Amino acid sequence: MPATINGTPLEIHPGERLIDVINRSSALIPQVCYHPQLGPTQTCDTCMVEVDGKLVRACGTAAADGMNVVTSSPRAGAAQREAFDRVLGNHLLYCTVCDNNNGNCTVHNTTGLLHVEHQEIPYKPKPYEVDMSNPFYRYDPDQCILCGRCVEACQNLQVNETLSINWENPHPRVLWDGGAPIGESSCVSCGHCVTVCPCNALMEKSMLGEAGYFTSLPKPALDGMIDVVKGIEPELGYGSILQLSEVEAAMRESHIKRTKTVCTYCGVGCSYDVWTKGRHILKVEPAHGPANGVSTCIKGKFGWDYVNSHDRLTKPLIREGDKFREASWDEALDLVARRLTEIKAADGPDALAFISSSKCTNEESYLMQKLARAVIGTNNMDNCSRYCQAPATTGLFRTVGYGGDSGSISDIEKATLVMIVGSNAAENHPVLATRVKRSHKLHGQKLIVSDLRKNEMAERADVFLHPRPGTDLIWLCAITRYILENGLANQAFLDEWVNGLTEYRASLEPFTLEMASARCGLPMETLTQVARMIAEAESVCILWAMGVTQHSMGSDTSTAISNLLLVTGNYMRPGTGAYPLRGHNNVQGASDHGAMPNFFPGYQKVDDPAIRAKFEKAWNVTLPPKPGLDNHLMIDAIHDGRLKGMYIFGEEMSLVDSNANYVSDALSKPEFLVMQEVFFSETCRFADVILPASPSLEKEGTFTSTERRIQRLYRAMEPLGESRPDWEIIQDIANRLGAGWKYDHPSKIYEEIAPLTPLMAGVTYERLEGYKSMQWPVAEDGGDQPLLYTKKFNFPDGKARLYPLVWTEPTGQQDAEYDLHLNNGRLLEHFHEGNMTYRTEGIRAKTPCTFVEVSPELALERGIESGSWIQLTSAYGKVRAQAVVTTRVGGNQLYMPMNSVEEPVNRLTSSYTDKITHTPAYKETSVYLKVLGETGENPLPRTNSRFGHPTPQKGVEVERKWKRGDYKQPGAQLVQIKTS
Ligand code: SF4
Ligand code: SF4
Ligand code: SF4
Ligand code: FES
Repeated sequence: MPATINGTPLEIHPGERLIDVINRSSALIPQVCYHPQLGPTQTCDTCMVEVDGKLVRACGTAAADGMNVVTSSPRAGAAQREAFDRVLGNHLLYCTVCDNNNGNCTVHNTTGLLHVEHQEIPYKPKPYEVDMSNPFYRYDPDQCILCGRCVEACQNLQVNETLSINWENPHPRVLWDGGAPIGESSCVSCGHCVTVCPCNALMEKSMLGEAGYFTSLPKPALDGMIDVVKGIEPELGYGSILQLSEVEAAMRESHIKRTKTVCTYCGVGCSYDVWTKGRHILKVEPAHGPANGVSTCIKGKFGWDYVNSHDRLTKPLIREGDKFREASWDEALDLVARRLTEIKAADGPDALAFISSSKCTNEESYLMQKLARAVIGTNNMDNCSRYCQAPATTGLFRTVGYGGDSGSISDIEKATLVMIVGSNAAENHPVLATRVKRSHKLHGQKLIVSDLRKNEMAERADVFLHPRPGTDLIWLCAITRYILENGLANQAFLDEWVNGLTEYRASLEPFTLEMASARCGLPMETLTQVARMIAEAESVCILWAMGVTQHSMGSDTSTAISNLLLVTGNYMRPGTGAYPLRGHNNVQGASDHGAMPNFFPGYQKVDDPAIRAKFEKAWNVTLPPKPGLDNHLMIDAIHDGRLKGMYIFGEEMSLVDSNANYVSDALSKPEFLVMQEVFFSETCRFADVILPASPSLEKEGTFTSTERRIQRLYRAMEPLGESRPDWEIIQDIANRLGAGWKYDHPSKIYEEIAPLTPLMAGVTYERLEGYKSMQWPVAEDGGDQPLLYTKKFNFPDGKARLYPLVWTEPTGQQDAEYDLHLNNGRLLEHFHEGNMTYRTEGIRAKTPCTFVEVSPELALERGIESGSWIQLTSAYGKVRAQAVVTTRVGGNQLYMPMNSVEEPVNRLTSSYTDKITHTPAYKETSVYLKVLGETGENPLPRTNSRFGHPTPQKGVEVERKWKRGDYKQPGAQLVQIKTS
């Protein structure tokens, strides 16, 4: 029997909350603290309804068949108003001069919904100051209605566990780390709390004085206006005051633009609206992102100042001797076309090479590879997946057939066990990591982490493995062997879906637990425990990243992970699978769209005559038949004199490729180097021509995130100065070389890609409108595959393949001279070297420079303290930085983040690579440490979140509010609230 809402029957969906059922009906009830993505906090009591004659909170009540629900009975209505009256006791309604008066303020809208005219409980300020100490947002206790949404978001969605409310205090407020200033707390500035705050208590500083017509008035004038509002309220009532503020809110629509975009930092694929007023970025507002909902990290929420940075490139530049001079677009493009033509004529098309950007759109990567192949005639084409992701792709190609995550972030969330190998997910894929932290905290998900550093996920893990550097393949193979030997494998899955068991099993012979324990330095009991946990878990997802791939055995270790998943039957079901976490926002898409030396778009082989014939027909050209140079081989080819010209767009190659001195030396050699960039990057120093490009907010296109999710981004503002979207620039160069392309919008480029690329056959801009997205492969009818393998694996017989593996020693091992192991990676606050993130002042203030993490034991041995200047020397170069002494690293292992242009860690890394993909073995580096004798301040300022002291708790803990002596559930006694 369905439930009835105000007499109308309504079917209940399994597990639904009553408030969601009511919100599906035509009834309107107030619900100030309820946010569907957070769940019920039950703090405001405004959602009181009658169920079978009893007053209950609709948000905290599970819907059930047969319920008789009345939402607007006199009792329910009075309770709702009484509850909201208490809310208003904590909040001054000065909407007309409030930067949050943008049509979406819950307090404002509830005042209107309940037709509140006057308050019974007068507004009382709280005895606290406004906290402005975070660079990005402020907290105003006087406006805080104590709904606890922020606490719930911080504790249970972001799971940073910074926020709480001191319910027992006579004047409760939100606390950071139990009472620290925000700027000195563990707050990581992810923005969750600000996004979900239903009023103006938490606000982005970029909104203050900017959003409203009157909000930029000086404080005394604003206070005066607020006093006027307070003065007229008893006379006029809130109705008239609200009418005025609604007119003002409507006027704002003409100057505030809301544009959907997709994050331009990591590969999680967060999408959100960016609010702009001209070129001023008011705020980033996540709500409907299919990957992130209301979630963001510091970079996506607050890291956008680079777009308006004073040092954006706005005019083409041409080298003259040691200097650059500004040039017109015509002059610069003519020069590029002439020099590319000359080099091709003199030395052939393979004397030229092209690097596409994994920060730019799919359409732009497609055009870049088309320029290289169809216009120039070379397959010398690559992107930065070579630096990180290519080994993971190889491991998956070998075993399951597609080079992409085998499910979605929602699968990771629902897995009963997650294992993370060599990935600092909480810093590098922050929003994805929140889903693991949440499932682990709230839903009993088990977590195993293997890493050299005790990073945040390792701190939270049920089991933390700290293997010796470069030995992951061994312990992964050993636990797989143990599972097979002890009858713990999923035999039914192996029988039905997997080929190659016999040969694979034989290859595991050397990988005994004893051998693994001795080589990896891990206790046998721990290995057994991990093997059993994986074998016994209902569903397992394994996440990995550069701690695995950036090794000389990166492809093989990635393969070992996939083998383990196959042996335990952890594919083809929700909550299972392999998840190589893609680093850049569009590193997946750049490879998907053909920016590789051996593949056309959709991983169609360039040396397959039938495939080549298809593209030759479509592009009306003859195409080169052999795979080209990848970016590692390009550097060697420049040194050898085979490569004479390069065109690089959106890639800081001289810093991010390993053995930076060798790479920089190479980049100074080509006869002609074109850079297409947003800023004058380090690599631009080597250029002959620099073309000013537009970042994502200034253009349209699509990005593909780690979960193979294709999403559209829209133009929020016009290109700055004379900068232009990359696709327009590439097209202009192609046309100067005679291509005759006529794309007038990125959608036209996709209309060409889809029919040529079976993986993307059904991708259209219409199907991706707004927040709609698709996860490849996309069939012609638009059907996509959030779970990649459901009916078959991507091999002709539909079966997966176990791939035999052999162990080899890692490169760059420690010796008497270079006695310390150096690990490296990103930081939460900065993306890579920080070309974009350093241009946000608040990020720079929190994390101003690079540093070297040194273990307490090593610090003691060498006389190092936090702030000591040290020099690291490898066989390839030197860097100088300050030490941070921390237990995140252990023994003789150091860690250096990549966030430096001046002292890049890649001066120390080698040219050794993964044997299959040529991905540099960045993580196999040994160094000599010299203490320089000077000590300064800790390079991580006290305001960095790493110094905070989180206060984990179950959530908002509303029960503590209910225990207060002055708390009464609304409706317990009749209170008359005046309404119109
Ligand atoms: S970490 Fe900071 S910004 Fe993020 S939700 Fe918690 S308090 Fe808010
Ligand atoms: S600051 Fe937190 S508790 Fe206060 S109104 Fe905003 S979300 Fe609610
Ligand atoms: S950097 Fe990654 S996690 Fe952060 S907002 Fe962007 S896509 Fe999301
Ligand atoms: S919305 Fe239900 S108690 Fe606040």
